[in-house]
Amino acid sequence: MKKRLLALLTALAMILGCASVMAETTTAVTGTATVQGFGGDITVTVTLDGDNIKDVTITGDGETEGIGKKIIDEWPNAFIEYNGIVDTYTGATFAGITREAVIAAMRQALENAGVNPDDFMREMETEEALDVVIDSDIVIIGAGGAGMTAALTASDAGKNVLVLESQPAVGGNSVKSTGGMNAAKTTYQDNNTFDEAAGIEKTLKAAEAYADNEAITALAATVKEQWEAWQANPEGYFDSTELFALDTLIGGKGLNDPELVSTLVNNSAAAIDYLDSIGIHLNNVAAFGGASVKRIHRPVNAEGKTVSVGAYTVPLLEAACQSRDNLALLTDVTATKLLTDENGAVCGVEAQGKAGNKITVNAKAVILATGGFGANLDMVVQYKPELAGFMTTNAAGIQGQGILMATEIGAATVDMEQIQIHPTVQADTASLITEGLRGDGAILVNANGERFIDEVGTRDVVSAAEIAQPDSFSWLVVDQKMVDASSVIQGYISRGLMLQGDTCEALAAELGIPADTFAATMDKWNSYVAEKNDPDFGRTSFAQPLDTAPFYAVKVTAGIHHTMGGLKIDTQTHVLNTEGQIIPGLFAAGEVTGGVHGGNRLGGNAVADFVVFGRIAGQTAADSIK
Ligand code: FUM
Repeated sequence: MKKRLLALLTALAMILGCASVMAETTTAVTGTATVQGFGGDITVTVTLDGDNIKDVTITGDGETEGIGKKIIDEWPNAFIEYNGIVDTYTGATFAGITREAVIAAMRQALENAGVNPDDFMREMETEEALDVVIDSDIVIIGAGGAGMTAALTASDAGKNVLVLESQPAVGGNSVKSTGGMNAAKTTYQDNNTFDEAAGIEKTLKAAEAYADNEAITALAATVKEQWEAWQANPEGYFDSTELFALDTLIGGKGLNDPELVSTLVNNSAAAIDYLDSIGIHLNNVAAFGGASVKRIHRPVNAEGKTVSVGAYTVPLLEAACQSRDNLALLTDVTATKLLTDENGAVCGVEAQGKAGNKITVNAKAVILATGGFGANLDMVVQYKPELAGFMTTNAAGIQGQGILMATEIGAATVDMEQIQIHPTVQADTASLITEGLRGDGAILVNANGERFIDEVGTRDVVSAAEIAQPDSFSWLVVDQKMVDASSVIQGYISRGLMLQGDTCEALAAELGIPADTFAATMDKWNSYVAEKNDPDFGRTSFAQPLDTAPFYAVKVTAGIHHTMGGLKIDTQTHVLNTEGQIIPGLFAAGEVTGGVHGGNRLGGNAVADFVVFGRIAGQTAADSIK
């Protein structure tokens, strides 16, 4: 009887062409199904012995490292353990698309194996809610890039470290960051070819508008001297920490804290070396918005294609954390309150576990690394009402908790109303389309098929220009050559975010924009690339012509991306109170802090921020308890 059923199911599967059913033995049955996930196909294969799930395999190469890939890795065991489909992240916003896709594929695979999937739906068993008290030298709140970098540094300094993460997985906004990390005077930069003279001249000209900003004026004078000396004797790659600082300050509209900027740039090359020392290699150097020269450092895969910096870096940081004996990392634990002693020194944290249980951590130092508040749209609108209704690129856990907890005990904030919008956020899904594409040669065209701005300008300027276009959106255009060099773009294509045309005219038809105008725009742009001169918008970074069919475009608009404001810190990452004094025992690093980026953060400076200040926070906190 079972054999007949199998034969029938196999025939059905062959007819449908989307599933396979086979008998392994007289009792074992295997069903397979494939559905669209976040970044491509997800395939689930289940083997049943009677009503018992014996084996599950899940594949989905396109899912995001550290997010969707966690589901792909974790759920086969969970499904076997529960003998059914269990959502181990029930109630969380984590990896929603991947989770739904895996559940749908598993249901289909079970059906294809000849059973009713409804009989295999399971609920997570709830843990007993135990209140606990933990002692640790240092507790770090937030397991994004800053938290994990601080944790590794403090662990290296011999301290016991506990990291609390409110979300089910580590990564915060860092795992979503795509572009790379800015750093000046690195070994990788020295291997680059130099053709950025126009970019440096443009920056020196831009600095003239800040005659009343002492830091910018002094840096511009130094850079001018360095640039003249290099031109007289052009050896190696031209960049300097002063030029990096000048770009960061001009990008930040002169509002940045110059001492924090100086700390950022002066420690950036050492931060690249540090990452190398723990197996994180950012060795591809490219152009990015607002940088005078090629300075953003990116990872590449074994085929030499660029990959997302966050998806590459975060799992390696997590693995490094997990390899330490003196470092523990707890997910699904939300810090709710900073504890202080009778002298006002911070001495621990109160937190809540997933089951609602209270977790008290007594510590000699607390590092806040909770990120900004870009996913807390109420808070965003409170500080910048004109952003009501904007999409956000931020991870769900970026709710401003660290800022709120610290201000409750008297911490000062700075620049809270400085909230960055990013001009290339995919219009339907809020997916970030990395600025790296523009640095590598992409252009933006409006609904009329025309360019409207230097695409490699700073985000505030590009976003404002885009918002001024018809219907406030644009098309970001790349060619096949760019696709071949970037697994990031290949991911956008497999997620269905890009439209394609074999010619410029065919792409224009797909986009619904005037074909003649768009083809003329592309011809004109390619001639500008050949001449390395953009008389229309003064772009100075050209990379390569868009001349290799097929052509691709993605519809983009502006979305909330980074909150530049946050807790006021000094260069050693001590959190300051409203009187400008250090709050003993409290440190902060990464997007939870304010002052580094001023009125507008440069792309590539968030990763630099979390590595540089994360390391300082880990070291300073460790030193404070010697
Ligand atoms: O566009 C991007 O890849 C974003 C980078 C960043 O915010 O640093």
